[in-house]
Amino acid sequence: MKNPRVFVLLVLICQIGALALSTPKSVGPIRHTIDTIPAEYKRGLTTHIVNSSVDGHPLTVYSVGEPSKTSAPLLLLHGRTWSSLPVYNLPGSSTMRGFPNKVTPYMMDFRGFGLTPPDDACTVSPAKCAIDCRDVLRWIASRHSQELGLEGDGISDDCNPVIPSLLGWSQGAMVAQLTAQLYAKDINKLVLFGSLYDRDYIYKRQPIFSEGVGCSVIENTKEATLEDFTIEDSISREVAFKFSKACLETDPFKARWVNLHEFNALNPSLVTRPSMIIGGQHDPYSEESKILHLFAGIDGGDKSWVSLGGSDHASHLLEGVGDRWMKAVVGFLEFGRECNESMIKVADAKEEEEEKEGNTRRGFDEIVEKDDLNDFFI
Ligand SMILES: *[C@@H]1O[C@H](CO)[C@@H](O)[C@H](O)[C@H]1NC(C)=O
Ligand SMILES: *[C@@H]1O[C@H](CO)[C@@H](O)[C@H](O)[C@H]1NC(C)=O
Repeated sequence: MKNPRVFVLLVLICQIGALALSTPKSVGPIRHTIDTIPAEYKRGLTTHIVNSSVDGHPLTVYSVGEPSKTSAPLLLLHGRTWSSLPVYNLPGSSTMRGFPNKVTPYMMDFRGFGLTPPDDACTVSPAKCAIDCRDVLRWIASRHSQELGLEGDGISDDCNPVIPSLLGWSQGAMVAQLTAQLYAKDINKLVLFGSLYDRDYIYKRQPIFSEGVGCSVIENTKEATLEDFTIEDSISREVAFKFSKACLETDPFKARWVNLHEFNALNPSLVTRPSMIIGGQHDPYSEESKILHLFAGIDGGDKSWVSLGGSDHASHLLEGVGDRWMKAVVGFLEFGRECNESMIKVADAKEEEEEKEGNTRRGFDEIVEKDDLNDFFI
């Protein structure tokens, strides 16, 4: 280094660089509150706060319509990156408001997404999501039983009309499957939409002594908001950019997923509810060869697999596909045997048998045992 001034400058630049790298952009994530999110994204929705049974964390839930004797409750789960508002209530293309009266739809935001604040650890994990989802399913069941004047909390028989069905999209489909494996009694029917399930993929564990990145903030990018759209002419530029804008306005920061290895507990043969698999035929994240194993493995009685032609990952938002998606999902929720007493008895007997074998609980116990999730469950 011949010129000492250049050397000093370089050292200075390096120091500033190191400082910039070591200082998070802000202390703790700044999040939206119900008042700050643009009103158009919540149009037509009722907002509820359900408190986690584990740590009291407030979970944001939205609904459309009121419980009624002639409508079936359904809970929708979003995916890995974007919360429920852009995914299911996009202005002009709302899925939530597109359901016919015979379905009462709900959707929830996982920890750190949309209007659900991050928890103290600033993380979200498959097990946390599954337990939060169970709490919301139970809250929906109790809301409907109260409204309908039914006895108990609604958590009982196979044919109970207040037990919600559960639909998850993308990574949310994996959460829905995990929830169904662990808490089958809390779910009526299961819909796995654009699932990322891959039986050959093993999620790696995190290093146990890693200190992680704490609550530092990572911004979401416009690029990422548009990556789900891969088929030309399947979505207009206008709708795609509306989605992009909604994503960045409701989820400016990434939620931090940890413990993805909990997804290794996914096992279709532990799914004991009637199930539908639905997805785009050309979905790059959900290959038919992988979904085939999922479909064949599920052991929940009635099942259906709908592959939507001309569609990639976000089928429900696509022109000419969204309508077919809706028809298929509602059709599946309606489809099935009439509920009668003999069926309830058969269902009870089957559940008792499964409980004896520890079937429905196995995945759950494994997750709790292998990880330090015990603290979480206290
Ligand atoms: C959750 O807690 C908040 C604040 O204590 C309360 O306003 C809300 O009603 C609770 N939610 C439910 C579903 O009980
Ligand atoms: C109940 O449903 C089952 C299956 O559909 C049917 O075989 C049975 O006859 C029904 N029982 C009554 C009492 O309606």
